[in-house]
Amino acid sequence: PTIFAITPTYSRLEQKADLTRLCQTFRLVENVHWILVEDSINKTALVKRLVTNCKVPCAHLNAVTPSTFKNVPGKRKLPRGVAQRNAALTWIRDHVDPKEVQGVVYFADDDNTYDVRIFEEMRYTKVVSVWPVGLIAGGKFESPMVKDGKVVGWIFYVGAHRRFPIDMASFAFNVQLLFSHLKAEFKYTVPSGTQESTILEGLNVTMSDMEPKANNCTEILVWHTRTQSTSLINQPKLQEKFKTVNFDLEV
Ligand code: UGA
Ligand code: MN
Repeated sequence: PTIFAITPTYSRLEQKADLTRLCQTFRLVENVHWILVEDSINKTALVKRLVTNCKVPCAHLNAVTPSTFKNVPGKRKLPRGVAQRNAALTWIRDHVDPKEVQGVVYFADDDNTYDVRIFEEMRYTKVVSVWPVGLIAGGKFESPMVKDGKVVGWIFYVGAHRRFPIDMASFAFNVQLLFSHLKAEFKYTVPSGTQESTILEGLNVTMSDMEPKANNCTEILVWHTRTQSTSLINQPKLQEKFKTVNFDLEV
């Protein structure tokens, strides 16, 4: 089965570093189809070059976040990646023939850290697979609670209003579900923290469908790392010090 890995991405100083790491992770994975969706009006030259050099089969798309749903500093935290992940779901529905292709869909954000073994765990998902995510929500990990090989609940700290209190990185589902539930999508209009529940509810998934992976959820194979944003505080002084150096390089 093919892994359809969906990654929203947006322009920032650390974008190339994050995408380089992700691309090189995918290079180590067999039969992965990367769907990389830029949050931009046009595809950027930087990401185009990265995709070309990356040697991983990739659909490079763009879908801009509507301005009303862009996060403003100091305001309520709006969900990220909604328009981009929806564009990727549409791409799969338009380009994948469910009679021909076996596969699984995974939402792989560009700044997380992935052990390549997580992709083999998710590859044979019948309906929905779940597993723990490390370094998240101010704790060591969040995880499905497993009893006798079955998911019976969730280990998490905040957000009890959620039907499935899990992170985007903690589940994958069989691609066939996208074709049996044509309306399943992400939504801006749901309470914060409920994007994962929204898509899983749209796919009509229940807890008894959940297949625990990563040795019955006892191994951490993905981490919700977040790349520190770089301040260019010393850049003017650096350029002052090295007046003849061309600092206009792509970083
Ligand atoms: C958490 C979850 O792990 C995400 O899956 C969820 O989308 C996000 O919260 C949310 O608030 O909606 P977090 O690390 O806070 O993750 O979010 P980011 O990693 O900054 O963003 C998630 C994805 O959306 C990334 O792949 C990022 O590149 C992309 N993104 C972010 C955009 O496409 N546009 C933006 O303006 C911001
Ligand atoms: Mn993140």
